[in-house]
Amino acid sequence: MKHRATPPPTTPFFRPKQLLTLLCLALLGLQARAEEIKSPNGQLTLNFDVQQGGVPTYRLRYKGREVIKTSKLGLELKGSTSLQTGFTQTDKQTRSFDETWTPVWGESKTIRNHYNELAVTLTQPETQRTMRVRFRVFDDGLGFRYEFPRQPKLDYFTIKEERTQFALAGDHKAFWLPGDYDTQEYSTVTSKLSEVRGLMKSAVTGNASQTPFSATGVQTPLMLKSQDGLYINIHEAALIDYSCMHLELDDKTMTLESHLTPDAAGDKGLIQTPANSPWRTVIVSDKAGDILLSKLVLNLNEPTKFKDVSWIKPVKYVGVWWEMITGKGTWSYTNMENIKLDSVDFQKVTPNGTHAANNQRVKQYIDFAAQHGFDAVLVEGWNIGWEDWFGKHKDYVFDFVTPYPDFNVQELNRYAQSKNVRIIMHHETSGSVRNYERHLDTAFQFMNKYGYNAVKTGYVGDIVPLGHHHYDQWVNNHYQYVLEKAAEHKIMVNGHEAVRPTGLARTFPNLIGNEAARGTEYESFGGNNADHTTILPFTRLIGGPMDYTPGIFQTRISTFNPKNNSFVHSTLTRQLALYVTMYSPLQMAADMIEHYNQHLDAFQFIKDVAVDWDDTKVLEAEPGDYITYARKAKGKSSWFVGSTCDENGRTSKIDLSFLDRGKKYVATIYADSPDAHYEKNPQAYQIRKLNVTSKTKLTQLCAPGGGYAISILEAGK
Ligand code: NOJ
Ligand code: CA
Repeated sequence: MKHRATPPPTTPFFRPKQLLTLLCLALLGLQARAEEIKSPNGQLTLNFDVQQGGVPTYRLRYKGREVIKTSKLGLELKGSTSLQTGFTQTDKQTRSFDETWTPVWGESKTIRNHYNELAVTLTQPETQRTMRVRFRVFDDGLGFRYEFPRQPKLDYFTIKEERTQFALAGDHKAFWLPGDYDTQEYSTVTSKLSEVRGLMKSAVTGNASQTPFSATGVQTPLMLKSQDGLYINIHEAALIDYSCMHLELDDKTMTLESHLTPDAAGDKGLIQTPANSPWRTVIVSDKAGDILLSKLVLNLNEPTKFKDVSWIKPVKYVGVWWEMITGKGTWSYTNMENIKLDSVDFQKVTPNGTHAANNQRVKQYIDFAAQHGFDAVLVEGWNIGWEDWFGKHKDYVFDFVTPYPDFNVQELNRYAQSKNVRIIMHHETSGSVRNYERHLDTAFQFMNKYGYNAVKTGYVGDIVPLGHHHYDQWVNNHYQYVLEKAAEHKIMVNGHEAVRPTGLARTFPNLIGNEAARGTEYESFGGNNADHTTILPFTRLIGGPMDYTPGIFQTRISTFNPKNNSFVHSTLTRQLALYVTMYSPLQMAADMIEHYNQHLDAFQFIKDVAVDWDDTKVLEAEPGDYITYARKAKGKSSWFVGSTCDENGRTSKIDLSFLDRGKKYVATIYADSPDAHYEKNPQAYQIRKLNVTSKTKLTQLCAPGGGYAISILEAGK
């Protein structure tokens, strides 16, 4: 069904009955009113209208072109009249807002938050309930949310489904993931919206926990491109005490509708007023690069209330990790099966000889980190329980405080700190959320005692208690509880398998990373598509930074584990580019240290590259094809450029006009050799140095599945 604006009456004459109705409506203040606001630069226009039957609708245009056609707003409630119809507009407020704020860490030194706002109050006379819809129109897009003030007739309610529509203007090209209540670890499919249904089955690949829900359900951030070149991104901001939104596509009308993640009872939200929904966001531009530079999602989150943020710092790290992911080593200390945690004395059992998190190996990593200026070493598999850690729906799977006998927690932390390096804690929960919450205080006190200041959390497998989903309201509240508890202990958090970010790091800047997409680990489980990293910045990264774990130099895994034939779908120098193109204040050099020692010339880039930035430019970008960024290091004059392209390869043409005029710089270019190829010849690279200024223009090859990285340092510095 198409939703059209009700045409205004064309005849000047009214029949008596109509006149009476109109009069009544006017008297009661019930008449439909159309509202319009524009973005500060006037290019975006938002219309709001209450249509026949009291149905709230909105519409969004960009430079006069339809982005979202007239679309319905509202929610269906469980056991109660819906909040979809029977509304009258009883109030409206408008305002303009303009502030510039300074993030604790980020892609630029300051961020401008500039919008025009419209808040309409809607009343259902029949039920005496009120809700507000607040719209903020920025130059780069729209955010809107539902607000439910405290009121006698709407104190508690249960959401059956949110019915927010996004009626698209055409059969756009879409970069989509299958809608799923438990995972985002899928390859992105690029297709027309009308092709989603036919491709869904093959798009749903295996995962330790997954619940796809329909033939046309997709996830956000959803990236779209219209035939006439509009780039549109739909996501949400400030997902707090609410369930994660997916989008259900009506492929006849090209209308997307919100689809919330259900909890164990099948409910989609337990709300007590006053309450707000998260913001629904639509970023739009006719330039792809503007989508990458948008700060709309962050701006729609609340400023942090943390008074002291001095303990939150970007982190560059190495880790005892890739050897387990690739199957060369193990997380577990023994080969026992079916263990009960408190009934095994690990001092007395036979070790398997493959346990990677042992004192000697960890010290090698600490030495390497110290030698090359890294902040930290992640160590996974340090604690008891990995023999039997997932797929069993166990409740008590880890205690988070007991190390295996060959991991001396006190000595290793002392050793690391004596070299100015920290060990990153690892808390794999195996999805057993209750168990984690039970141990959380003790686990964080344990971290404080030994001097850990960051934790990587993980939620592999189905959520226990069973029936809950990784993205439902109750579990989202768990992730937030962990963040808040961590902050009390001055601990930074990097959450894997948790809900995808929605800009919450503005409010909780200790959330320095998330996974919530197919990371580098999948290169060891069959591979990521060669265009994967040309898409993620347009999709997953719109919500916040990703712990993508780049930097794999030995892309052929069989060279060190003959049983694993998987390979990394990337050239070596593209792995360098990812430190610039995949923005994160938390960056891992994920390969084993032996592989870095074989390519110390290329490794120099990872040592030099910044993890925090004063400025960011997009030099070229097209989702699915290529992305080239330039970023200025925080508090320094140096710049770093990264470029990644798809399986076809290309020649990139950039100019360095972002450099300070009149200054001289030395550029070091780490690039694919002409015969490089992500599969056939991934380690063929060339490094060259040249003097550059803001007038320099560069033509640079990207091999198929390749990329290049450039460090640009001010001459003489
Ligand atoms: C999945 C995470 O993404 C990965 O980084 C981690 O090593 C394993 N879970 C084990 O926790
Ligand atoms: Ca994962």
